[in-house]
Amino acid sequence: MKTMYIGLLGCGNIGSGVAKLLGEMAGTIRESYQIEPVIKSILVRDLTKQRPEYVDPSLLTVDKDKVLRDPEIKYVVECLGGEHPSADWMCEALRAGKHVVTANKMALALHWRELHEASEAGHATLYYEAAVGGAMPIIKILHDSLQANRIDRLTAIINGTTNYLLTRMTDEGLDYQDVLKDAQALGLAEPDPTADVEGEDAMYKLSILASLAFHRHLPVSAIEREGMTHVAQEDIRNAHELGYRIKLLAHATHTEEGMDAYVSPMLVPENHPLSSVKGAFNAVFLHGHACGDMMIYGRGAGSAPTAGAMMSDLINVILETANDHASQVQARENDGCVPMISDRTSAFYIRLSAQDATGVLAHVAASLSSHQIGVKALLQPVERALEGAQITILTHPASEKNVRAAIDAFDKRLVKVMNVLRVEAGEL
Ligand SMILES: NC(=O)c1ccc[n+]([C@@H]2O[C@H](COP(=O)([O-])OP(=O)(O)OC[C@H]3O[C@@H](n4cnc5c(N)ncnc54)[C@H](OP(=O)(O)O)[C@@H]3O)[C@@H](O)[C@H]2O)c1
Repeated sequence: MKTMYIGLLGCGNIGSGVAKLLGEMAGTIRESYQIEPVIKSILVRDLTKQRPEYVDPSLLTVDKDKVLRDPEIKYVVECLGGEHPSADWMCEALRAGKHVVTANKMALALHWRELHEASEAGHATLYYEAAVGGAMPIIKILHDSLQANRIDRLTAIINGTTNYLLTRMTDEGLDYQDVLKDAQALGLAEPDPTADVEGEDAMYKLSILASLAFHRHLPVSAIEREGMTHVAQEDIRNAHELGYRIKLLAHATHTEEGMDAYVSPMLVPENHPLSSVKGAFNAVFLHGHACGDMMIYGRGAGSAPTAGAMMSDLINVILETANDHASQVQARENDGCVPMISDRTSAFYIRLSAQDATGVLAHVAASLSSHQIGVKALLQPVERALEGAQITILTHPASEKNVRAAIDAFDKRLVKVMNVLRVEAGEL
């Protein structure tokens, strides 16, 4: 029987969940693999805080070196959260040859290279299944199962809070502020929801997913980001009339010309699989040259799915290293510099409030047409007019630069632009 010592950094929602699961699974691991997993130290900030009964108080410490500098501890489970000091301590552990398991998308996305360099320097493994998609094994699928694929497109719903908000806005006709208050009361949205509703959380996760899927690092700074707070009930109703639902999507493509990546609210055709992803669920829809279209769907967050994914990583890394198998760095790093695509093609949804005067529609149509933009559908629901005439236009796919230029060229005395959203391509 081999004893494997584990150190936990943090004992909040996730850290205590990992401690609980490890306690529950220790017997099975012992019997199946003749390995005794033992938590040796748990780093916290406040020793006086009440902890669940399954956390042994004698293991708690406020001294990080009890985890990071203990030569017996070979496995570090990082459950602190935030960028610093998490990223620094994970690098320190990896450089010291300790295998690290984390759910921290922010530290991972912002310090991708440093963490992978530290992992190589220390010949230690970095596992992060729980950082994206909670219970969905998307990291393992990208890393292992789809090895033989050249993935060129990835579109995902990877923020449960915004998907929950948009689902209720769509299904119950509620406004953003009302649903947000409700979600906060239910604990489904943070008191400060900025990171979710402004797309930051999805941006970190997209950086991780695309870096793995495309075998190229996609830095956070290269991802264009737009939140969902400007999506109005009017847009949701118009989208429905046109045969779409509005979702906050994280999208990345990798072609011979380069990479493109953005997080933004988009119209998704009602027959697209992502359109049926409701509530706090997550899904990743991708295309590979061998596997074709594929969607992975599941619970994206919550302490049980997250702690469960971390526990699976921990068991995997213990099994790999206990038998002295070569350690596997769970990200294929490639420094090849890939340019970002400078323009993209997309269909657009444009909602305008126009002067109720003759010639306005002709002016809008002329501006679009002079920028090579074709109109696919037009809605003018007079009965819902808020001020002047409401005009909603769905364009054919066009250069995004041209669409922005056409909108800039609208005569501001005649039309006010209320909202502009991208439209996810429907062809599968
Ligand atoms: N909660 C979820 O559903 C979920 C889902 C997916 C991913 N995650 C990720 O999981 C990680 C942990 O989240 P959580 O919800 O468990 O957070 P949490 O409940 O706030 O727990 C954080 C823990 O870290 C400790 N800690 C923080 N800073 C520290 C410092 N400087 N020194 C020592 N200890 C420190 C805290 O100590 P004290 O207890 O003494 O304050 C606490 O035990 C984050 O990266 C988060 O993004 C969470």
